[in-house]
Amino acid sequence: MDYTIVHLIHIFAVSVYGGFLFTDNLFMARMKETLPDKEAAAAREAIMIHVRKVVPKALIVAVVAGLYMFFQVFGTVGEEGLSRFQMLLLLKAFLGSWLGLRGVLQVFFGIQPLVFKSHKFPFILVIMIIFLSQLMWE
Ligand code: HEM
Repeated sequence: MDYTIVHLIHIFAVSVYGGFLFTDNLFMARMKETLPDKEAAAAREAIMIHVRKVVPKALIVAVVAGLYMFFQVFGTVGEEGLSRFQMLLLLKAFLGSWLGLRGVLQVFFGIQPLVFKSHKFPFILVIMIIFLSQLMWE
């Protein structure tokens, strides 16, 4: 039962985090096309004030829940080396943890990312992670 609860927490947390990135990259980023710059910036900030309170925490919850599940399902490495499932899960865990670390440094320590500063990078990683989360079971 514990695993199912953590799995649900993971799904909800990544829905909040990933949901924001989809909304930001597909819609909010385009407000500049329909509003004058000053109004577009004000409209964005009116949303970002609330985003900053929730999304970084959702990311951390997603990573912590993911780490718990990782150690439940990863299993042992056989003599023939990593299985396909283990390789894809490791890649998913690395990309997700990278996002987690990047988010924590940025939000809680004010350390801005060195590379890929826009929200396009996490957006692309989240899409890759979602594919990996399904392909790893194939
Ligand atoms: C922050 C980025 C992350 C996103 C967007 C993400 C997204 C997802 C998605 C969409 C699923 C599939 C849910 C399902 O089909 O039921 C999933 C499952 C999973 N995730 Fe993540 N994840 C992230 C981070 C992590 C991290 C950092 C880890 C491990 C260190 C992790 C470990 C897992 C595991 C083990 C599963 C399989 C759960 C299962 O089906 O039993 N995730 N994740």
